[in-house]
Amino acid sequence: MTQIPASDVPGMGRRQFMNLLTFGSVTGVALGALYPVARYFIPPRPAGGSGGTTAKDELGNSVTASGWLATHKEGDRSLVQGLKGDPTYLLVEGPEAIGSYGINAICTHLGCVVPWNNGANRFVCPCHGSQYDATGKVVRGPAPLSLALANVTVENDNVFLSQWSDTDFRTGEKPWWA
Ligand code: FES
Repeated sequence: MTQIPASDVPGMGRRQFMNLLTFGSVTGVALGALYPVARYFIPPRPAGGSGGTTAKDELGNSVTASGWLATHKEGDRSLVQGLKGDPTYLLVEGPEAIGSYGINAICTHLGCVVPWNNGANRFVCPCHGSQYDATGKVVRGPAPLSLALANVTVENDNVFLSQWSDTDFRTGEKPWWA
């Protein structure tokens, strides 16, 4: 049997091209339709080069180190919105230094937000009286655990918070929240 060379079949290349184009269009439309569905199920990638999230102020604006240090003096412990939106204390350790860790303000007893008490130099929970020292280490119950920590880094003046997975320096143990 004699075979006809592909080059002798007119339109062969064109047909393949058209098939490819149709397949590409259909696939593109399908992927385009699926994209919002996929986005719904895939959690958003956190902002920040360190794999964390930018600290936000009470208005939802990103916190800058220079702005924060201009309005918060040494020793200050004030709240920002941190990981998963949790209220988290930033520490000011000097005129030009934001502390390298943040303290999650959610009480480990029943979840009240624990305010900083400057006079007592402690975090004192208004709900059932638990107390935490200046690093967030529990010093009085009924809270069973210290306040969770977050890593704090400053990149291009932006303040980032990321998951703390190192040893808890206050207890020498693995972090209970990781
Ligand atoms: Fe803080 Fe109970 S919720 S002591």
